[in-house]
Amino acid sequence: MYKIFINRIIYILITITLFSCKEDEIIVPIIEEGDFSAIYNLPSEPFNYSAINFPITFTNFVFEELDNTPDNNHITNNGATLGRVLFYDKNLSLNNTISCASCHLQEFGFTDPREKSIGFEGGHTRRNSMNLTNSRFYLKEKFFWDHRASTLEEQVLMPLQDDIEMGMTLDLVVSRVSSFDYYKPLFAKAFGNDIVTTDKISKALAQFIRSIYSFNSKYDVGIEATRNIFVDFPNFTAQENLGKDIFNGKLTPEANGSCVFCHMNDNPSEIHFSTTPSLNANQVIFTGTRTDNIGLDEDSRGDSDNGLGEITNIEADNGQFKVPSIRNIELTSPYMHDGRFTTLEEVVEHYSTEVKDHPQLSDHLINPDETPRHLNLSEEEKAALVAFLKTLTDEVMISDVKYSDPFVE
Ligand code: HEC
Ligand code: HEC
Repeated sequence: MYKIFINRIIYILITITLFSCKEDEIIVPIIEEGDFSAIYNLPSEPFNYSAINFPITFTNFVFEELDNTPDNNHITNNGATLGRVLFYDKNLSLNNTISCASCHLQEFGFTDPREKSIGFEGGHTRRNSMNLTNSRFYLKEKFFWDHRASTLEEQVLMPLQDDIEMGMTLDLVVSRVSSFDYYKPLFAKAFGNDIVTTDKISKALAQFIRSIYSFNSKYDVGIEATRNIFVDFPNFTAQENLGKDIFNGKLTPEANGSCVFCHMNDNPSEIHFSTTPSLNANQVIFTGTRTDNIGLDEDSRGDSDNGLGEITNIEADNGQFKVPSIRNIELTSPYMHDGRFTTLEEVVEHYSTEVKDHPQLSDHLINPDETPRHLNLSEEEKAALVAFLKTLTDEVMISDVKYSDPFVE
C-alpha cells in the first residue's frame, strides 16, 4: 500500500516535470524496461565495449594515426549493445530471413565460410565476405574490397539496401525497427529516446563493429613480451619464428615484397627492417592503408572485377582491392576478394611462385628487371609462413559472448 502510494507520487512528479519542461530543456527519458527475455538475452548491465584494457602494444600511434572513430560516434556500452541486436536481427531483411551475421559469422572471424555469400532471396553476392576484426583501426576509413564506402557509418547502411543481400529501403528499415517494441528500451538507453532513425541505426551498427577487437592471439603474447616483431618471440616455436621473419622481411631485406609492407600499414620508417622499431610503432594492426594489386590474374578480365577502378574510373586503379585484415586468417577461408583460395597454403604458393604480370601489379611485387617478384620459398619456409599466420588466431574474440547472437531462438 505504502509502496503504491510512493509510486503514485513519483508518477505525479514525473508528469508535472514533463509538462512543465520548456522546449529546449532536455527531458530525462522514462525508460520502459518491459520484459523481452523471451526475445533476446541481454545482461541487465550492458557488456563492456567502451572501456577496454588494451595491451601496451596498442600504442599511441595506433590510436592517434589509425583510429577511424568519428567525433560524433564514440563507442558506448548501450550503443554497441543496440548495434549487436541490429547486427543479429533477421527482421532487417525484406523477408525476415537474413541478418548481417548470416554472412559475418563470429566463429569464422566474422566472415562467411562460403566463397560467395547468399542473400535474402538466395542470390549470391558478387564477392567474398570480409573480416570485420579491428575495423576501427583502418587508417583509410574506407570500406569494402573496392573502397566504395567512405566511412563505416556509411558502409553499414549499404547491405540493408543491397538488392541481393537484404533488399530493404531505409524507410522500410526504420518502420520495421519501430514496429518492434523490443527496440524501444535499447534506443532509449543508447540515444536518450526511443525514436528510431536511420542515423541512429547507422551509428549503433558502426559502434558494434568498431568494438570487435582482437588482441588475444599467440602473436599478441609474443609481441607484448618483446615489443619488437624482428626478434624471436619466446612463446613461438622455431617454425613460427621462421615464418615471422619471412612475413616481416628480415630474411630478405633487399626485397621490398615482404608481407609486412602491405599488411601492417604504412609506417615504414618506424618499423620496416629496423631491428629496434620505435616502441610507438604499429605492430598489431594487420591491415594495409590502401588498395593494391597482387597479380592474381594477368589482367582484370580474369574475373571481370575491376575493384577500385570501377569506383574511380581511373585505369591505374583497375584490379586494385583493399588489403584486408588478416587477423584470425586461419578461420576466414576462403581467401581473396573472390574467395578463389581455400587454404593458406594456396595463398602462400601464390606469393611464392604465381604472382602474375597484371598491368597494375604493385611496385612491391615487381623485380628490378620488371618481372613479377616471386618469393620462391622452400617447402620448409612455406610451412613456416603458414604456421606464423595461424598465430593470429584469437579464440577469446571468437567465443566472447558480447559479440554473439543475443536472440533466443
Ligand atoms: C548476404 C551477405 C551479407 C550480408 C547480409 C551482409 N554482408 Fe557485409 N559483406 C558481405 C560481402 C560479400 C562483403 C564484401 C562486398 C564487397 O566488397 O563488394 C561485405 C563487406 C562488409 C564490410 C566491409 C569490411 C571492410 O573491411 O571493408 C562491413 C563493415 C560489413 N560487410 C558489415 C555488414 C553489416 C553491418 C551488415 C548488416 C547491416 C552486413 N555486412 C550484411 C556480405 C554480407
Ligand atoms: C603489394 C602488397 C601485398 C603484399 C606484398 C602482400 N599482400 Fe597479401 N594481400 C594484399 C591484397 C591487396 C590482398 C587482397 C587481394 C584481392 O583479393 O584481390 C591480399 C590478400 C591476402 C590474404 C587473403 C586475405 C583474405 O581475407 O582473403 C592473405 C592471407 C595474405 N594476403 C597474406 C600475405 C602474405 C603471407 C604475404 C607475404 C608472403 C602477403 N600477403 C604479401 C596485398 C599484399
